[in-house]
Amino acid sequence: MAELTIQPVEGRTFGATVTGVHLGNLTDNEFAAIHAAFLEYGFLLLPGQFLTEKENIDFGLRFGELEFGGAPMSNQKRVAEGEYGDIMDLDTQVMRTNVGNEAWHTDSTYKPLSSKCAMLSAVTVPDEGGETELADARAAYDALDDATKEKIAGLSAYHSTQYSQANDIGDFPPVRADSVYHGEAYLRPLVKEHPETGRKAIFVARHAFGIPGLPRDESRALLQMLTDFIVCEPTRVYTHHWQPGDTLFWDNRCILHRARPYDYSKPRVLIGTRIAGDPESELSYYPDHPAAEAGRIALARELELLRAETGDRMYGATTAERSF
Ligand code: SIN
Repeated sequence: MAELTIQPVEGRTFGATVTGVHLGNLTDNEFAAIHAAFLEYGFLLLPGQFLTEKENIDFGLRFGELEFGGAPMSNQKRVAEGEYGDIMDLDTQVMRTNVGNEAWHTDSTYKPLSSKCAMLSAVTVPDEGGETELADARAAYDALDDATKEKIAGLSAYHSTQYSQANDIGDFPPVRADSVYHGEAYLRPLVKEHPETGRKAIFVARHAFGIPGLPRDESRALLQMLTDFIVCEPTRVYTHHWQPGDTLFWDNRCILHRARPYDYSKPRVLIGTRIAGDPESELSYYPDHPAAEAGRIALARELELLRAETGDRMYGATTAERSF
């Protein structure tokens, strides 16, 4: 019987490849080893898993409550397990959201509770492009100079994916309270201390805007500088070239990720599972909290400015007419 092996990714500050185990059939000891490696390395790659949707969900549940589980992150609509329909038009909201994911982010910072971790399992992948990239925001924090560490220590930013869709690609999704485009913005510190390891990480990327107390230009420049800094060093970035059956699992509390472009007329089907953060460490506030009003106002002001500024972006400051 194969032995569980954890092999750090060569030449990178983070990441490990795990072999000799099947995530659908783990012993408690194997799970403990995987959990410890996940905390140490920040992401794990498990080739050749070919997990069912239920196996994806069950493994995710070992880490906590799910935001969603075994769901397609795809350019095709799911018909049934393993069966996918027509390739979606690039001008649907689902595809606009997929394209938005091509900029660096951590998941669900635009929700009251940001995400703990996420996994993707490859079903169908294009021959070229469509990679997933990860970046180590812990090593980046360690590499900051002391003056920058001091400058950002007490600062926070609002997070919204209405902001990031508009800012990155000129997409203005319809606002609905029960969607991720809900009109709220959640305040989070620029530096996150990991609740399980105590390690600090830079906690910004595409969803972050509007640092309270800073003029808009300064806030935008600082957030861009920090995101660029995380990803500027090749040892802090890992590019995953998918093979069907691969499972990739990462810690959203300290690792950024993004999808890479591909020929959108070709199928790309990954099964996604996202685990919610713990309220003690990942809760900003809920919309009924008095602090939420300032977030709503900041977002409304920012979107008004972006309406005028994003006509030259991919979707030209428009709203998709169809969801999928
Ligand atoms: C995501 O951003 O959660 C999805 C990344 C991908 O499709 O590679």
